[in-house]
Amino acid sequence: MLLNVVVMSHVKATENTISRCVVSRDEQGEKVVPAKEKGFLRREIMLPQHKIIFEPINIGKIQLDNRIVLAPTHVGMGDEKGMVTDQYLCYYYTRASGGVGLVIVEITGVTGRYAFIAGRGLGAASDRSIPGLRDLARVIHWGGAKAFIQLAPGHGAQAMRHHKQRPLGGPSDVSALVQKDGLPKNLKGIIKEAPERPHPLDVQEIKGLGGEMVRAAGRAKGAGFDGIEIHGAHGYLLCQFTSPYYNRRNDDYGGSPERRWRFSLEIIRDIKETLGQNFVVGYRFSAREWIPDGLDLPESIEMAKALEGAGADYLSVSQGCYGSATHVFPAGEGAMTEDAAAIRKAVSIPVMCPNFQSPDKVADAISNGSVDLVALSRPLLADPLWARKVKEGRPEEIQHCKRCYQCIRAAIVDHVPARCPVNPKLGFERFDPQGLPRPAIGQGV
Ligand SMILES: Cc1cc2nc3c(=O)[nH]c(=O)nc-3n(C[C@H](O)[C@H](O)[C@H](O)COP(=O)(O)O)c2cc1C
Ligand code: SF4
Repeated sequence: MLLNVVVMSHVKATENTISRCVVSRDEQGEKVVPAKEKGFLRREIMLPQHKIIFEPINIGKIQLDNRIVLAPTHVGMGDEKGMVTDQYLCYYYTRASGGVGLVIVEITGVTGRYAFIAGRGLGAASDRSIPGLRDLARVIHWGGAKAFIQLAPGHGAQAMRHHKQRPLGGPSDVSALVQKDGLPKNLKGIIKEAPERPHPLDVQEIKGLGGEMVRAAGRAKGAGFDGIEIHGAHGYLLCQFTSPYYNRRNDDYGGSPERRWRFSLEIIRDIKETLGQNFVVGYRFSAREWIPDGLDLPESIEMAKALEGAGADYLSVSQGCYGSATHVFPAGEGAMTEDAAAIRKAVSIPVMCPNFQSPDKVADAISNGSVDLVALSRPLLADPLWARKVKEGRPEEIQHCKRCYQCIRAAIVDHVPARCPVNPKLGFERFDPQGLPRPAIGQGV
């Protein structure tokens, strides 16, 4: 029990320096860290209201140390071929060692057959990706977090760039909805070219893409990842299959809600059957698409039950698509929590959602039963030490994201590596001694 009692005592920190310690009656787990004040040491204590954030939790057979997750966040630090670079290793090591319980590596492509959104992201479409993925899983483990990777079978109608030699594939020939009004200034042009109509994938192509997902998940497992997350959110291919707006089919993969969900459910079942029930498979989806005739919460709740029934080990609740991008990246805080809470009531597997900044709000959402875990994206771009600062009782030192949208503009609109004015080290972790991956004792290869 932390009693939050501050006792002043004098300890000898160096030969010449008398230092001050702040201690509590329960010293378990406390760390001594140098204080800002010159010549003093300060013992940091987690604030009692934040304790719940650091309770362990199981996802499938995997135990996480705490409830903070690095949300999948495409930062565009790979090479032209989608391979892991040293910069990626240092970027992910920095987030893992910043105290999160789980790192979910960003959207990763599983095939080069269809048009995609370029931008130096990651791929797991061939065995050539395995050595890089192995290093990536390893440095995340060295940092002290569990490692999942988000896999996507395609970008559907939203794949608008760099696809000259590759066809656009979607559930139906419905082009991506572009909504110019209401987007933050920096996101205008999220789809720059005139929307094209994708070709409706036939059943053989759908089965082929399902097979690519299973093979990519196998590569991730072989590389040492603890699990994968299926990207069914934000208007990409699987989201378009589940969407009543985008999916106009009338076959086994469209026509009723159950048939629209079918592609996603089959992928979960096939990965579980191929890789074993113990390999964690999560599913991320937009509970509301926020477009006319788009997926809405009541149907999402039913879909969530079906995803659990198919074997999903956790659900990650998001919102929106490119036609409603402000809902994917809300300017405020807590926009997804109510939806996550409604979904959590309907299932018995862990549920997470993003869009938090304040540790108090994170702790409230966990303690009032809205979510089991919290996925932070922009807060961990702006401050990779978010979790450690909360754990060490210094939340006031967190560098907060100021919602300037520059990271999104860079990585998702302009297809260049993400940068952040709040955290000038973002993208330069390979030059920062703190960002250099190093194993702890016993973690050598
Ligand atoms: C630069 C950037 C890239 C993103 N890339 C992904 C991605 O690869 N996969 C995904 O599911 N969501 C992605 N997102 C969405 C985030 O995971 C998250 O859901 C969203 O930013 C809201 O959470 P936040 O308020 O913590 O930023 C991205 C967000 C940002 C800012
Ligand atoms: S401050 Fe701007 S660039 Fe940095 S994480 Fe927030 S939105 Fe992205």
